Amino acid sequence: MDRLLIVSNRLPVTVEKRKNALQFSQSPGGLATGLASFYKSYDCLWIGWPGITAEKITKEERRGIQAKLLSQFNCYPVFLSQNDVDRYYLGFSNKTLWPLFHYFTQYVVHDKGLWDAYKQVNRRFSEVISRIAQKDDIIWIHDYHLMLVPNIVREMLPEVAIGFFNHIPFPSFEIFRLLPWREEILEGLLGADLIGFHTDDYTRHFLSSVHRLLGYENHLGEIHVDDRIIRVDTFPMGIAYERFSSSIQDPQVQKEMSKFHKKLPECKLVLSVDRLDYTKGIPNRLEVFNAFLERNPAYREKVILILVSVPSRTQVQHYKLLKRHVDEFVGRINGTHGTIGWSPIWYLYRSLPFHALSALYNIADVCLVTPLRDGMNLIAKEYISTKSDGRGVLVLSEMTGAAKELGEAIIVNPNNRDEVAAALEKALTMPEEEQIERNRPMQERLQRYDVVRWAKEFKEKLVQMKKRQEDMHARLLSTEMREKLVREYARASKRLLLLDYDGTLIPFFGKPEEAQPGDELIGLLEGLAAHPKNEVVLLSGRTKETLEAWFGTLGIGLVAEHGVWIKEKDWEIIEPLTEDWKQEIRPILELYMDRTPGAFIEEKGFSLVWHYRKASPELSAIRVRELIDELVTLTANLNLQILEGSKVVEIKNSGINKGRAALRWIAKEQWGFIMAAGDDRTDEDMFEVIPEGAYSLKVGLSSSLAGFNLKSHEDVLLLLGELV
Ligand code: UDP
Ligand code: G6P
Repeated sequence: MDRLLIVSNRLPVTVEKRKNALQFSQSPGGLATGLASFYKSYDCLWIGWPGITAEKITKEERRGIQAKLLSQFNCYPVFLSQNDVDRYYLGFSNKTLWPLFHYFTQYVVHDKGLWDAYKQVNRRFSEVISRIAQKDDIIWIHDYHLMLVPNIVREMLPEVAIGFFNHIPFPSFEIFRLLPWREEILEGLLGADLIGFHTDDYTRHFLSSVHRLLGYENHLGEIHVDDRIIRVDTFPMGIAYERFSSSIQDPQVQKEMSKFHKKLPECKLVLSVDRLDYTKGIPNRLEVFNAFLERNPAYREKVILILVSVPSRTQVQHYKLLKRHVDEFVGRINGTHGTIGWSPIWYLYRSLPFHALSALYNIADVCLVTPLRDGMNLIAKEYISTKSDGRGVLVLSEMTGAAKELGEAIIVNPNNRDEVAAALEKALTMPEEEQIERNRPMQERLQRYDVVRWAKEFKEKLVQMKKRQEDMHARLLSTEMREKLVREYARASKRLLLLDYDGTLIPFFGKPEEAQPGDELIGLLEGLAAHPKNEVVLLSGRTKETLEAWFGTLGIGLVAEHGVWIKEKDWEIIEPLTEDWKQEIRPILELYMDRTPGAFIEEKGFSLVWHYRKASPELSAIRVRELIDELVTLTANLNLQILEGSKVVEIKNSGINKGRAALRWIAKEQWGFIMAAGDDRTDEDMFEVIPEGAYSLKVGLSSSLAGFNLKSHEDVLLLLGELV
């Protein structure tokens, strides 16, 4: 596995047509600048939109662009029409997903037409990928524009390794749930083998949305979907550290620095750099600066705010309004506070190339980074990395992903203007030793975890996941093994089939009583039981009354309450048991039932069960731990055991389990063939006592003592059907 296919909406190179000539320039934004710094060192191809609409170019120009992008930049263009740009890019991506994921719910547009365009363009990207990709390629898809691509490509190329990285926040479930197409977005992402986010919070939010909306739980960040494992993890994106830390030695950067020094009066320099985006909190920053000047007349002619605003998404209404607002505000502040020869704000509305930008990082005394919400924010990292002598102060919003790694900066809540103003003052007066003391540990961290390491770790994790999936598939009952099983079954003269019921022969339902067997399943069991060579046993956690009612006439062995009751001919108890302990345990379960809407208690002959399948997954996850903690001490004194099954906690007498019950049958005969199938924790006791050479089958993909895994209950039924 070597070649890396990077896929993002925007290519790192933007093509424009000015005065009828094509121009190629660096694309704006952290995704393009961040990845561009490492992708050339890999065997890489970058697939994305070159930023020009298809209508603006002739067929010939299109071919020319394609050839140049490929030969000079390793880029493969996906051309979008003006309609695609309006509806997919400016529309669903930037009027729906961008504001929603940045918690600007009041700006979100819900429009089915835009959603349709998003689906369509995601499909187009997927088709391009599937045309280009080879079997061993690693496909790495980036950002919110392409959230459906992983699943579409998965359908087109089932075996290929697919990673997805989200460069913006993933919002909390309460925000994400507002989206009418929320399930489709999650399903789209789950086509990937590895899904990455900048911070643990985004990872947690995503896992919680998957759990609540699709019902998939995770175990240490792994989600099982059908026959696949998907890993969700945190990879905070780094920057090209050396490039910034050594920039002071670059003659071109030095030239830019002296140009700036000539233009700027002798005073403290505060730097602010962002795309002109409402998430960046630029008006708030200006308000703070205005208030700071009002409150600190001593700083008159002694400080300048260099405000670099990079034009962005200028056709979207909220960006237009923001531009007007910032223009006016800057004018007002300069008008109010400026003097002849001193304007407090130096406003640059353009994108600066690397040399000019790093010159500004080098000369700035303070960098003011105060977004209201930002997935990562690379500006903060670039500023700290540039300060090779250790001087300079970073004021950083706690709402950025970067704040998680840059804790030595002055961290502020951008909505608290007094706090930010105080931080600015503190930054302007901070002693040099303190500046160095704060910056050095941040620099060490940024140097260690730079963008190359970030990409390498993501890529390695993805390869690891692929390997894990292969190992897991190796555990699935192969066609050959299955044929062998069927052959051995046919040959044997005495055959024992030990079968769990819920989750093994039938799927789970909200209420246990809904899982009643249908005619087909009954017919199948009858067919198996009718054969004189067969002995069929159903081992379940259900009550003997239920099993009797559902299966009593089939002439099969029954085990109820996980081994308390056994029916070979008539029902008998496995050993004398007590149930007076129930009075002590029941009130505790009732208390937890009242505190967990949706949970309920089931009482069996010799056990009590707390069911929580219908309760809120997040609340019940907490309640289950609390309940078990509370029960552990109590049950030890009462000689009871606590069993955790599938969405149930069961309390019953110690020493009773399906393994012990299964042994009754296993020991009865010299069996020529034994097969046991089950899906949850309680079936592991059965697998444990299965003799060597017997077949044990675990339903689902999780690890088990069983010899093989089967994907679902449907596979069990197919196999049993074959035996019949
Ligand atoms: N940048 C640039 N020229 C500019 C301003 C910014 O090249 O005039 C680059 C900057 O170096 C950084 C990126 O744009 O790598 C901005 O990334 P960030 O994560 O801070 O914000 P985003 O634009 O992705 O929201
Ligand atoms: C953010 C997004 C990127 C995007 C960039 C610039 O960094 O995460 O995906 O490319 O902004 O925005 P634009 O709309 O110009 O591509």
